[in-house]
Amino acid sequence: MKPHLPHPTRRFVLTAALLALAFPWAGLLAAETGASAGSTSTVFSWFRFLAPFHMVALHLPIGFLLFVSAIELWTWRKPSAERREVIQLGMLLGVMATALTMALGYLRASDGGYDELTLTRHRGWGIAAGVLIAVAWGLHRAILKDPAPGGLVAFRTLLFTGFICLSVTGHHGGSLTHGTSLLTENAPQVLRGFLGLSPATGGVPAGGPSVGYATVKGALEKKCYVCHGAEKQKGGLRLDDRALALKGGDSGKPGIAPGDPGRSEIVRACLLPANHDDAMPPEGKEPLTSAELAALIHWIQAGAQY
Ligand code: HEC
Repeated sequence: MKPHLPHPTRRFVLTAALLALAFPWAGLLAAETGASAGSTSTVFSWFRFLAPFHMVALHLPIGFLLFVSAIELWTWRKPSAERREVIQLGMLLGVMATALTMALGYLRASDGGYDELTLTRHRGWGIAAGVLIAVAWGLHRAILKDPAPGGLVAFRTLLFTGFICLSVTGHHGGSLTHGTSLLTENAPQVLRGFLGLSPATGGVPAGGPSVGYATVKGALEKKCYVCHGAEKQKGGLRLDDRALALKGGDSGKPGIAPGDPGRSEIVRACLLPANHDDAMPPEGKEPLTSAELAALIHWIQAGAQY
């Protein structure tokens, strides 16, 4: 007996999958063109436009592979030729989504400013996942045509290894965009201790509290470290380390001039009107509140003790 889904079912699954693929893109595209109409005068670049979609596309391979893995586990217990067909379709979509995500990933990485080592790991594990998933898809296709003993064991091994690689890729990717502490910063003390992390400080440095540091640290952490922290140093500026913050970024001017907010680039950048090229954080990101700005200026005035 040749395993086959009835035709209408197959067409339905395919159409539903294509729609699921197309909708988020169409929606975002519409929002994007609406939002940018008339507001910018910068030169349009397809690369720069498409690169952020890596963050959208990456959910697709994860979704498809979770779906396939779930059906595979089910079919493992209860073999079914029909579900094999669904798995094959899921694998095809998974491979397509992975290829798309990888292509967009290269665009996004070319933007620069990421921590090199984390990026290398993210890319390496991502390529490994992509290769394993593609091979698994090819193998499954062969199995459907001509079931050979051991074929399914090899397929499952490839699929689950690919999934593990994908998870590691996601972990490194998360570190690139959210920093390494996202999942642990609010973890219970016991867990932080177990992971070898320092106890949460609550913003008060060991050397004794300095003026408004808790507010300043919170604000910088939330609104600046994504681009100026341990993982990324956009514009050559790193703010989570006092010495580097004082030294400043590519402009060569001090990021922070202790005692002199007026000469501190971070104050200047935060005070600029939102549509100014040098304004920080860049357009679209949450700006500092006036209370945070006041605390920042006051803190620098008082010597900018970390
Ligand atoms: C989304 C990413 C992003 C965020 C968030 C961000 N910045 Fe920036 N920042 C940049 C980029 C990109 C540059 C380089 C701009 C350029 O070269 O034109 C830059 C440059 C700077 C510079 C100039 C450095 C120099 O000496 O050339 C300062 C100062 C600065 N940022 C401060 C801040 C502060 C303070 C915050 C938080 C309130 C912040 N940035 C948040 C992306 C970001």
